[in-house]
Amino acid sequence: MTGERKLYIRTYGCQMNVYDSERMAEALAPSGYALTDTPEEADLILLNTCHIREKAAEKVYSELGRLKPLKSANPDLKIGVAGCVAQAEGEEILRRQPLVDLVVGPQSYHRLPELEARARAGGAVVDTDFPAEDKFEHLGARPKASRGPTAFLTVQEGCDKFCAFCVVPYTRGAEVSRPVERVLAEARDLVARGVREITLLGQNVNAYHGIGPDGEDWSLARLIRALAEIEGLARIRYTTSHPNDMTDDLIAAHGEVEKLMPYLHLPVQSGSDRILKAMNRKHTAESYIRLIERIRAARPDILISGDFIVGFPGETEEDFEATLALVREVRYGQCYSFRYSPRPGTPAAERAQVAPEVASERLTRLQALLEAQQREVQQEMVGRTLEVLFEKPGRMAGQMVGKSPHLHAVHVSGGDIAVGDIRPVRITASASHSLAGELA
Ligand code: SAH
Ligand code: SF4
Ligand code: F3S
Repeated sequence: MTGERKLYIRTYGCQMNVYDSERMAEALAPSGYALTDTPEEADLILLNTCHIREKAAEKVYSELGRLKPLKSANPDLKIGVAGCVAQAEGEEILRRQPLVDLVVGPQSYHRLPELEARARAGGAVVDTDFPAEDKFEHLGARPKASRGPTAFLTVQEGCDKFCAFCVVPYTRGAEVSRPVERVLAEARDLVARGVREITLLGQNVNAYHGIGPDGEDWSLARLIRALAEIEGLARIRYTTSHPNDMTDDLIAAHGEVEKLMPYLHLPVQSGSDRILKAMNRKHTAESYIRLIERIRAARPDILISGDFIVGFPGETEEDFEATLALVREVRYGQCYSFRYSPRPGTPAAERAQVAPEVASERLTRLQALLEAQQREVQQEMVGRTLEVLFEKPGRMAGQMVGKSPHLHAVHVSGGDIAVGDIRPVRITASASHSLAGELA
């Protein structure tokens, strides 16, 4: 363990990639790698990539092009592509960009030390298997060093839902849940290292069904209740959920588990039943709205966030207006909206496409509505006193930045605040992307 070699990782895509990047760095530490923020001094550069939309996938190739001079400057530099583009494109990456030495899919990260050694010995290496062994079991123990107050923890991975637009079932594979005791041990370990808030991750996190110590399948709700028993852990969040897996026990947990934060990311994609059917979402606009009502009955102040796709094949103006109507009814506090991007190998990519200028114009209208709602919901926080978990110093002297229970960024100046503190803050103002307040 020399620690003399430098590893640079660039992460794209969702939070699961952020978690995976941490685990990859840990997996490579025994091979002598320490993280660096400077690609110029790296001996190994890993791009942890995303394949969800065309733009995300193309970023990888432009980034690889930019790395070319580094490779000429340092002949020992190895370049690897990890993540969902690696899984989706495999060998094709080597054909398009011969400077790549290593391609590794998301289910093979535990093999990184061996793959890196092989790449160093000469010749490009590709591993995009879905191995029978569980990568988490083979990734080994996590380091003991102290760390920041918030952490991601992957509890479930993969997806069996096959929405007609989506690459995730192909890049991440079938749904797999980690055993309860592994999750609890990792959470206790994170808390011992200073973590106060854990966000449980999964492509369909609420489909979690890990095997418990009693030999039974535990639901996400049951897992959350067990996590809430951990002393020192103050906050629990989870993402991303699918409407069809929002079970009664999970809804009840939102009303009963104090540590479970009042924020729920529940993508709906469209407000038109015709389009939802074509997307293979297996729920209707009406069932989604009724579901939100039940969640709000359990936890009235919960902030709902969502994802939308506009311009899905076959979407008419009428379908799009149904989406706007759903948005008005739900009232979102946070949202992500995208123009449909045809992805190779997915059923919807083969269908007749909506004209790009029509889709762009709809996206503009939807985003105007969503932004207005977000501003309103954020504005309503002004005058309230909220518990804020402080994460880092702000840009101004003496300023600290933290997160409210509803995941709004909150800036506070003055007062004796340390990173990791949770303090009541009276919210005084709402800016475009954050709140300001003073210690109560
Ligand atoms: N597992 C999550 C979302 C995964 S992808 C879920 O089921 O909701 C994150 C978001 O990207 C999706 O919710 C969707 O809004 C968007 N997305 C996925 N595929 C897309 C595509 N082909 N074009 C445009 N947006 C897409
Ligand atoms: Fe993709 Fe649908 Fe699975 Fe979400 S539920 S990851 S959108 S296939
Ligand atoms: Fe992207 Fe893969 Fe996440 S496609 S959104 S990095 S699961």
